[in-house]
Amino acid sequence: MCGIVAIVGRTQVAPLIVDALKRLEYRGYDSAGVATIERGELARRRAEGKLVNLENRLKNEPLFGTTGIGHTRWATHGVPNETNAHPHFSGDVAVVHNGIIENFAELRDELAADGYHFASQTDTEVVAHLVARELKKGAAPVEAAHNALRRLQGAFALAIMFRGDEDLVVGARNGPPLAVGHGDGEMFLGSDAIALAPFTNSITYLEDGDWVVVRHGGVSIFDIDGNAVERRRQQSLGTSYLVDKGNHRHFMEKEIHEQPEVISHTLAHYLDFANGTTRKLDLPFDFNGIERLAISACGTAYLAGLVGKYWFERYARLPVDIDIASEFRYREMPLSARDAALFISQSGETADTLASLRYCRKAGMTIGAVVNVRESTIARESDVVLPTLAGPEIGVASTKAFTCQLSVLASLAVRAAAERGKISAEEEKALVRGLSETPRYTNQALQKVERQIEKLARELSHYKHVLYLGRDTNFPLAMEGALKLKEISYIHAEGYAAGELKHGPIALIDEKMPVVVIAPHDRIFEKTVSNMQEVAARGGRIILITDEKGAANATVETMDTIVMPDVPEIISPIVYALPIQLLAYYTAVFMGTDVDQPRNLAKSVTVE
Ligand code: F6R
Repeated sequence: MCGIVAIVGRTQVAPLIVDALKRLEYRGYDSAGVATIERGELARRRAEGKLVNLENRLKNEPLFGTTGIGHTRWATHGVPNETNAHPHFSGDVAVVHNGIIENFAELRDELAADGYHFASQTDTEVVAHLVARELKKGAAPVEAAHNALRRLQGAFALAIMFRGDEDLVVGARNGPPLAVGHGDGEMFLGSDAIALAPFTNSITYLEDGDWVVVRHGGVSIFDIDGNAVERRRQQSLGTSYLVDKGNHRHFMEKEIHEQPEVISHTLAHYLDFANGTTRKLDLPFDFNGIERLAISACGTAYLAGLVGKYWFERYARLPVDIDIASEFRYREMPLSARDAALFISQSGETADTLASLRYCRKAGMTIGAVVNVRESTIARESDVVLPTLAGPEIGVASTKAFTCQLSVLASLAVRAAAERGKISAEEEKALVRGLSETPRYTNQALQKVERQIEKLARELSHYKHVLYLGRDTNFPLAMEGALKLKEISYIHAEGYAAGELKHGPIALIDEKMPVVVIAPHDRIFEKTVSNMQEVAARGGRIILITDEKGAANATVETMDTIVMPDVPEIISPIVYALPIQLLAYYTAVFMGTDVDQPRNLAKSVTVE
């Protein structure tokens, strides 16, 4: 899942392409490259690593030309070095690509047999050679691109440029998103509208199978058979500003601190604070008319869904099937067209989640999407969009999107409970009151525990393994804590249901493996205390995250006890998300890792 940009422009495009790539760096940052048509010839600069390396390269060796393509890479085929960086060239053709060409091995053998030499290990290079071979056979550029596209299988967004033709870029979409930006005498392609926001907010989203001929004067869009098609032009909501870190060292730190505010915006969308009720939503299904809700998502969004399952089942008595999206679509379970499916995604572009959505669509289910990017593919393909109002999340590790997802799911669960008659009007009011206190408690939690966690993190950064435990809604949170720690600090971490400890993981316990226990003083607190005793008895070192009452009743010696504000039960997983985010964040800072762009990851995962 890389980011691509193309400009058929009027001014020098290399700096504009780099500017657009900055907005796409969330999609990958293993290497980057730009190519232009410089005095009729193809020219390119590429650099391994972050975009800043390419920028520095361009300072010393500028690229000229008014038409160009650019790429920021998340490696799928071939190591992230300069040779594998895009754009890839073959003869008169330059290509940038996001996605995977699944039949690339077969095409590579065929092209190699035809005498084409492969300079890189990428799947993308077959596209450049295929188009070049078509040109050699006598096809005109557009026809050559179309012929080549017909040979490709897999998921791809492409931009193809031709030596000597400054008035042409061909784009194509089959899977990963591609937006066309309409300018005045100049036209653009980008992996999303935000990339193009400084240039234009007049956008057309290509649909799967579409390909587009981009020229200064306008674009022509075709389906895979070459028939001209009309696609809606719309005003993008994307803003042109590049979100900055303000006074914070990292985006992740800033985003952790934004949570009280963005949670409040999100809740206000779903709750009527003045009347103490949930808002009636314009849903295409009736909570009373469905027997089950299927939730699926990936990574942190999946863990939000897992917390949601507890809420929907507890408050609304609505059974929930929750799946990791990459498993869901292949496990061949029975689906009922009478039921609804909910997909959770910050980016709204995650390939596995999107594929699950389409799978449910085929089964005739009604589709809801909890997304942060409202113009995303998942949002566009859903019957109802349930937005998280987290604002742009730049740090690769999800923080504020997660707590906003939780806020949406909690509000929906209470709404479902009320509509299904499972709670009284008083109970609904009490739950809404509890939810409405989330911004205040998240703020209090930050004030109360941040400095203590920073100190603790210094110590934690010396360990190689960490175990996280929790029960009930704190079980998904334990997994989220482990995921956050491993992805940004590279310390090995696992999250378990506290009751599972004795069924295996207890064998790992010794003084070298701290155990983070997330345990507010709730109805099952005593059970978790027993699990902590089991850890302590084996020399394990406990970091307990609890409240005043929990701290007073824990009866175990701890390495540290983080005392959180006392919070209503329904919002506990939202408020307790903050200390685990802070613990991961500060540990990573002490480890000296790249907090906002950890190795091997990308913000938007548009490959399976
Ligand atoms: C972890 C993280 C990822 C994402 C996952 C799904 O911090 O951010 O696990 O949650 O890749 O991404 P979205 O929500 O964009 O579908």
